[in-house]
Amino acid sequence: MSKSSEPLTRLDKAIRRLKAQRACLDWAASEAVAIPGVICELGLGNGRTYDHLRARLPGRDIYVFERSVSAHPTAVPPQDRLILGNIEETLLEAQPRFAGRVALMHSDIGTGDDARNARIAAWLGPLLPPFMAPGGIIASDQPLEALADIEAPLPEGVSENRYYLYRLPR
Ligand SMILES: C[S@@+](CC[C@H](N)C(=O)[O-])C[C@H]1O[C@@H](n2cnc3c(N)ncnc32)[C@H](O)[C@@H]1O
Repeated sequence: MSKSSEPLTRLDKAIRRLKAQRACLDWAASEAVAIPGVICELGLGNGRTYDHLRARLPGRDIYVFERSVSAHPTAVPPQDRLILGNIEETLLEAQPRFAGRVALMHSDIGTGDDARNARIAAWLGPLLPPFMAPGGIIASDQPLEALADIEAPLPEGVSENRYYLYRLPR
C-alpha cells in the first residue's frame, strides 16, 4: 500500500475499491443466508464477483444479467441462470418472474463514464425494490439515490462512497 503522503495511483484506487466490494459482498452474503429467495448479479464481467457469491452462498440460485459473456471459463453461469441482453430491457422483462423473490441483488455495471453511470443509477434505483424479498439486500457499485431512505451501514473498515448497501424492510 502507498504511504499516506503519496498520491493514490490508479492501482491503489482499484485495490481499495475491490476490498470494499469484497467486504460488502461478504456482509451481504452472510445476511442473505437467512433470507429465502434467489440471488441476482447485474454485470458478469470476468466473473469475479459471481464466483465469490457462488462460493459464499453454495446451493443458492444465482441469476446473472449480462450483455455478452466474456468471463473466465470457470466463472460462466449455467445457461438457464444467464439472462443475456441489455439490462435496460432484460431487467424490465424479468420483473414479473422475480417479483418479491430476490434475497440479494448485486449491481456492478458501472464504467469509467460518470454521466452514463448516473443515468443508469437513476433508472435502476426505483426499479429494484419490487424485485426484492422482505429484508432483501441490494449491493451496488454506484449510489442509488432513489434508495437513500433504505441505505444500510457499510461493514467496518469500508469508507463512505466506496460501495453502497441498501436493505428492504423486513
Ligand atoms: C465492471 S463489469 C462487472 C465485473 C464483475 N462483477 C466482476 O467482478 O468480474 C460490468 C459488466 O456489466 C456489463 N454491463 C454494463 N452495462 C450493461 C447493460 N446495460 N446491459 C448488460 N450488461 C451490461 C458489462 O458488459 C460488463 O461485463
